Parts: sequence; structure tokens; C-alpha cells
Amino acid sequence: MSGYVVVGTQWGDEGKGKIVDVLASKMDYVVRFQGGNNAGHTVVVNGKKTILHLLPSGILSKNALCVIGPGVVVDPYVLLEEIALLKKNGLEVDHLRISDRAHLIMPYHIKLDALEESKLGNHKIGTTKRGIGPCYADKYTRIGLRVGDLKDYDYFKERLAQALSIKNEIITKVYGERPFDFDELANEFLKIKEALEPMIIDATALINKALADNKQVLFEGAQANMLDINYGSYPYVTSSSPTSGGVITGVGVAPKYLNNIIGVVKAYSTRVGEGPFTCEQLNADGDKLREAGGEYGATTGRPRRCGWLDLIVVRQACEINGLSDLVLTKIDVLSDFEKIPVCVGYMLDGKMIDTIPSTIAACERLKPVYKYFDGWQEDIAKIRSYDELPVNCKKYIEFIEEFTNTRISLISVGPDRENNIITHDLI
Ligand code: GDP
Ligand code: IMO
Ligand code: MG
Repeated sequence: MSGYVVVGTQWGDEGKGKIVDVLASKMDYVVRFQGGNNAGHTVVVNGKKTILHLLPSGILSKNALCVIGPGVVVDPYVLLEEIALLKKNGLEVDHLRISDRAHLIMPYHIKLDALEESKLGNHKIGTTKRGIGPCYADKYTRIGLRVGDLKDYDYFKERLAQALSIKNEIITKVYGERPFDFDELANEFLKIKEALEPMIIDATALINKALADNKQVLFEGAQANMLDINYGSYPYVTSSSPTSGGVITGVGVAPKYLNNIIGVVKAYSTRVGEGPFTCEQLNADGDKLREAGGEYGATTGRPRRCGWLDLIVVRQACEINGLSDLVLTKIDVLSDFEKIPVCVGYMLDGKMIDTIPSTIAACERLKPVYKYFDGWQEDIAKIRSYDELPVNCKKYIEFIEEFTNTRISLISVGPDRENNIITHDLI
């Protein structure tokens, strides 16, 4: 079995990009299976930072063919910009392929994302405004345009005309805005077709063959379980399935191939956008976490909301994803705290619970039940062996393993590719 999965276990931004980059050197393929350029995945190599939005985080490893899978939504303008930026920085991008079945984020999706958010007013989701939700909505109402449609330009134009007739009616009649011009869009997408066409493939056939041939394939998740369309804090979620189940439908591979499912957990919690966040610290501790952790969005630059580790959330991620391993990141950020609370349950209307309610109203009434850990107040960024970690730090790590019943195989103590303590081989 040769299928590996990396997913987030909280609200995104756990450090998935870094971990995918670390594992990519041993991979034949790295495949994104959902989401789009709402993702911001940071990779740091010898101090040099690269933020990837659509390109798989294996792109810096030439050995791995990088694939944008069928379940991804692709903004072609962003994709071409990202490729150009990497090339400008002297990096090779020839090992990139795009699924013919991936959906295209069209300019009207981005427009509608912004219009819907402003219509929602106080109830806005706080989306990244990248057109993600409107694009997935069109996919499911079956008026979406796919990357592979570009190969037959007449067919693409036919589909565009159909979609525009519906979208323009909404844009003009509901929102009173200017319609999108068919000819203008059709011309722009002719240029996009020329640029993308050499990269368009049947990714499902390719990856299935690779798995059957026992090649090493890593599936890279974006977002995380609390942003999952089914299991997250709906409606404050994204419009895809960032869990391991999403790999199966998002690439078209069978569950039997997924053996190592790796969940990335940040040593505390962050959230970008609106929605309940039980352990949020709207105080000096939250500010300290934000500054020490550099918690500003890699996509939108928004300050991330910060709080303590919520182990109910992480345990739910272990269950939903079937995690075989956890990777713990940013534990170095906690080094300067005297006491570190960890949420081990919630009080809801006077009763203790240990699962996440389905309604936002109930989630907003949750009060965290904390277990307190003593801090270690010692810089751990240079440590490379588990035994050398301070005793209190080890207690914190071992409690996470115990509570989630999942082993922690890698402890990340800094942003760089090399800043790791490996306790079990992941590959
Ligand atoms: P992703 O969306 O899950 O890939 O995560 P992001 O890239 O959005 O955010 C993670 C941030 O933390 C990035 O700035 C990383 O460079 C940084 N990072 C990752 N791991 C560590 C770590 O162990 N320690 C510290 N201090 N920073 C880290
Ligand atoms: P990575 O892959 C953190 C959040 C947005 C918003 C909600 C819906 O870097 O971990 P969307 O634009 O998807 O419709 O927004 O989801 N969100 C993320 N938060 N990390 C991400 O990706 C996110 N992608 C989307 O802030 O609350
Ligand atoms: Mg991110």
C-alpha cells in the first residue's frame, strides 16, 4: 500500500504545507484533492519562504509529479500567476499536471462570493473571497465548467453561454450589478486554454495506475475537519470535504489504498473567518500566541483568531479521518507561557459533554473545561531528539497522544524543513 494522506485536524493553517514538503522528497506523486486557492500553504527551505495556494506543496521537490486533482477548484488566473512567480524565483514547474475534471473558478464566482458575503451582513461566513463556494455550488447544480472542457473550445463556449445566462440574471436582477460579457470571457479563456492545455490530463487514471504499481503517492489536504462541509461548524465552513474521505471522491481512488493518514495538529488553536471558537482567547494570551506564532493568514493576511488547544476537536479529527499518526507543529510557540490550558470537554447548559454539537447556537454556549499544564520556558527550536525536550513539554505531548489515542510521529519546532524531531518513521 502506498497512499499517504496529510490533513488538518483543526481550523486550517496547522502547518500542512511544511509537512507535505518534508515528506515529498520520498514521494513519486503529490496530489491536491479538494479546495482551491483559499489554501495558503507555507514551505520554508533554508530560511526561504514560499507560499503555495493552488500548487501542491511537493512542487519544490523535483522527484514528485505534482497533480491538481479532480476535486479541486482551479482559478486559472491564480494558477498561472503562481507558476510564473515560482519560475521567476528560479524554480522548475514542469512537473505539474491538472485534472481534466477539476472545476474552473470563473470571474463571476469571485464576484458572487463577495456579493453573497455582503448580503449576509452580520451573518457573513468570512470567506477568503476566492469564489470557492459559488464554484462548488455550480458544480453541484451542474452548470460548472471544467478544466478539460477547454480542450474542446467550442464545447467550452457553449457551456459558458449556458452558465452566463443564469449567472448574469442573478448578478443583474438580484444584486443590480453589471453582467459579465460573453465575448470578453471567451477571449480570455482562449489564452488560458493555450497556457494550460499541455498540463491537462486524466489524473484519476494516472494516480490509479501509480497506486496499482506501488508508487508512493501523497494526497495533500487543504483546510481541516472543522471547516468540512459535513462535519465542521456549518455554515461557517468551506464548501468541500478536507477529510480523508475527500480523497476517495476528490481523486477517484479506492479506500484500500489509503494506509497512512497523517493529521497535522498545531499545539494551540487558530481560526480565520467567522464561526464559533470555544477556546478563543480575546486577551493578552491570544495576542501573545498571535505574535509568537506569526498568526496572520497566508492567503488573506487577516490576523488569525488564537486560543488554546481543543482536544475534543482534535479527537474528532482522529475519528473522522481514521488517523494513523499525528504531526504536532508550533510547540516552540508555547515555550514562553507559564501555564498552558488544554480543553478536554465542554459545559453545555450545566452538563459536561465531550462531543461537538451540530448547531451554531449550541456551540456558542459551550464553555471550555481545561486541564492546566506547567510551561517549560525554554527555547526548544534547536532540539532534534525527543529525549532532550523539557520534561513539561514531554508531558504536554504525551497527554495529546493519550487523549486522542493516536501517536505523534513528528514534532515540528520551527518553520524550516529541517526543524523536526522524528519519533516514528512516517514512510
Ligand atoms: P497550512 O495552511 O496548514 O499549510 O499552514 P500555514 O502555512 O497557513 O501556516 C503555518 C505557519 O506556521 C507558516 O507560517 C509556517 O511557516 C509556520 N510553521 C509551520 N510549522 C511550524 C513550527 O513548528 N514552528 C513555527 N514557529 N512555525 C511553524
Ligand atoms: P489552509 O489550507 C484557514 C476559511 C475561511 C472562512 C471559511 C470559508 O491554508 O489551511 P472559503 O473561502 O473556503 O469559502 O471560506 O474557511 N478557510 C481557511 N481557514 N486555512 C485555510 O486553508 C482556509 N481555507 C478557507 O477563512 O472562514
Ligand atoms: Mg494556511
